[in-house]
Amino acid sequence: MIHHLRAAGTSFVLDARGTGVPVIVHWGSDLGELTSAALESLADTLIPAVGPSSIDSPLRQSILPVMADGWSGRPGIAGHHEGAASRPPAFTTSLVELVETGLRVTLAAAYLTVVIDIELTPHGVLRQRLTVTNTGDNVYALASLDATLPLPTRARELLDFTGRWPRERQPQRRDIANGTWTRDSRHGRPGHDNAFLMVAGTPGFGFRDGEVWGAHLAWSGDQRLWAESASTGHTLLGGGELLEPGEVRLAPGESFESPWLVSAYSDAGLDGLAHRLHRFIRSRRRLSTRKVMLNTWEAVYFDQSAERLIELADAAASVGVERFVLDDGWMIGRTDDRRALGDWVVDPVKWPLGLHPLVDHVLALGMDFGLWVEPEMVSLDSAVAREHPDWVLGAFDNGELPLPWRFQQVLDLANPEAFAHVYAQLAALLREYPISYLKWDQNRDLLGGSAHRHTTATYALMDALRDEFPGLEIESCSSGGGRVDLGVIERTDRVWPSDTNDSLERQAIYRWTAGLVPPEFLGAHLGAATSHTTGRTHSLSFRLATALFGHAGIEWDVSTLGDEDRAAVAEWVAAYKRHRELLHTGDVVRSDAGDAARWVHGVVAGDASSGLFAVVAMAATRDAVVGPATLPGLDPEREYRVAPLRLGAWPVVVQDAMPPWWAHGSVTMRGRMLASVGIPMPLLAPEQALVLEVTRLP
Ligand code: DGJ
Repeated sequence: MIHHLRAAGTSFVLDARGTGVPVIVHWGSDLGELTSAALESLADTLIPAVGPSSIDSPLRQSILPVMADGWSGRPGIAGHHEGAASRPPAFTTSLVELVETGLRVTLAAAYLTVVIDIELTPHGVLRQRLTVTNTGDNVYALASLDATLPLPTRARELLDFTGRWPRERQPQRRDIANGTWTRDSRHGRPGHDNAFLMVAGTPGFGFRDGEVWGAHLAWSGDQRLWAESASTGHTLLGGGELLEPGEVRLAPGESFESPWLVSAYSDAGLDGLAHRLHRFIRSRRRLSTRKVMLNTWEAVYFDQSAERLIELADAAASVGVERFVLDDGWMIGRTDDRRALGDWVVDPVKWPLGLHPLVDHVLALGMDFGLWVEPEMVSLDSAVAREHPDWVLGAFDNGELPLPWRFQQVLDLANPEAFAHVYAQLAALLREYPISYLKWDQNRDLLGGSAHRHTTATYALMDALRDEFPGLEIESCSSGGGRVDLGVIERTDRVWPSDTNDSLERQAIYRWTAGLVPPEFLGAHLGAATSHTTGRTHSLSFRLATALFGHAGIEWDVSTLGDEDRAAVAEWVAAYKRHRELLHTGDVVRSDAGDAARWVHGVVAGDASSGLFAVVAMAATRDAVVGPATLPGLDPEREYRVAPLRLGAWPVVVQDAMPPWWAHGSVTMRGRMLASVGIPMPLLAPEQALVLEVTRLP
């Protein structure tokens, strides 16, 4: 039978006739309603010629490409039964089931079965997960298990991401040439240089146009995303966990489940892809109202006392903050980053009365209380490491530990006793204090032990805590943005995209991270004027305009602000609260600007009734007078009022006179014209932004 999954402008066609491994006939644009006869005709028609010097039958891309079918590219599964030959066996289909969520294909080979779950969600997101089971009598050493998808010949350009601390998710583009472009992450976390989202598209694809096919691996450990193009004429997108040799050895009867490869197609560029992914993520995770938070890290670092933090809490409440998060430094002996990880007990020196005076004060001010933790880690200078040196992960045979990183090691959470220790200490804190939020940090690469087991144990710890404390929210932080993925987002409420609060860096990080992760998950903090990570100084208005988009917070000592700045911050908080429903449910839009130094991004309400945009000068523009800024994504047939929103102060401009419409305070234009013609903007000085409120007229 031929199966046709259709949703949200996307079709996926699987030819499961016969006993061979089913072939992916099509993944991409919607093919419309097709009868079985039409599907058969399509599948038959698309059978290619037999190439010269090749197997004697047409080579088609199956759902599990392996050498036994003539596939010479990267296989869907690799491994071997210990003591046996290493060539992968031939698979046949034993069952194709229509299940509630999509298709379940069961493949069998000598001594192995592979089950592939395929879903096309109502949002147009395709998910694939593979489960291999060892049906033999010997141990099966799994080398890789990757989901794969076909790309059409016209998808000739590839976008993925790289980065470093604190400059995550920087785009890189290339032509797809023959060979394999693989992005391997061996950090025990996705890492700051993670490929994140691999997108193939028609040449020149942009935010608003071009056909694109994108894939992301929903996993927080070692992984690879890849694209392969072969002279056989096949081009694939693939991804799976990156396994070390011997890391996964399946005893007879044991199974291994891959993470989901989450993919989507769009004929409306990267924004179209983002909309599908965002709708899918939002359907799985319903977040509470995104409270404005204050995080203490860059305000006080390790310098904690009840007196100092109560003063900060007062200042936070006075500008409208709704959640106060006490960052690193509260645990016993934690005077700096060299000690005390693993001892999740309040420091009696800094906090002689426990955290109660602060927590009570924060609650009395009407705010929630949140606490920083780093449950996967251990300092060698800690009670837990002294008592249980064997709980440190990854010791080599000679007893040496992995190289220290930020003076710390990883705790072996896959050890049930270590797991129970951390769980007990965290649960005790959550029972003693009304903590509604944990900032869950992770500050090093593993460099030892099994990333698979560690990631699984970390998920289990998060799940166990969420089970016992159902209202608890968790933020995923990993030295900033080292762990931003849909595996962790299944069980957390926020990710910290980067440790930099430098607005210029943040504009880029937000622009690209929001291509996969909806803005309400993306922490965005107002930092000090001079960035602690880059030393750049930015105006308050630029910092406010930048931190408005996402889940807003403050990471700045607001107790030192003068009246003017305090009032500006309070107004910004009020504006955020006014707009957060729109910001956190609407569609992200980004504009392909004519001048590379001027960026436009925004969020448009699902019913197109309103929008909030930012026009950003990332650098000095090429031209003295930059052309009109287009505001895409609105209803083409309706009129909109576009009005600048003053945040703190108006942005600094470099012109002799404003565009005339400015004098009227707003301008009215039809959605179609806003998207295609645009509005002349004030000529912003470098590193300035103008926020625009867009309202549909009745
Ligand atoms: C790294 C995080 O990314 C920071 O925000 C902060 O929480 C520090 N760790 C604390 O050690």
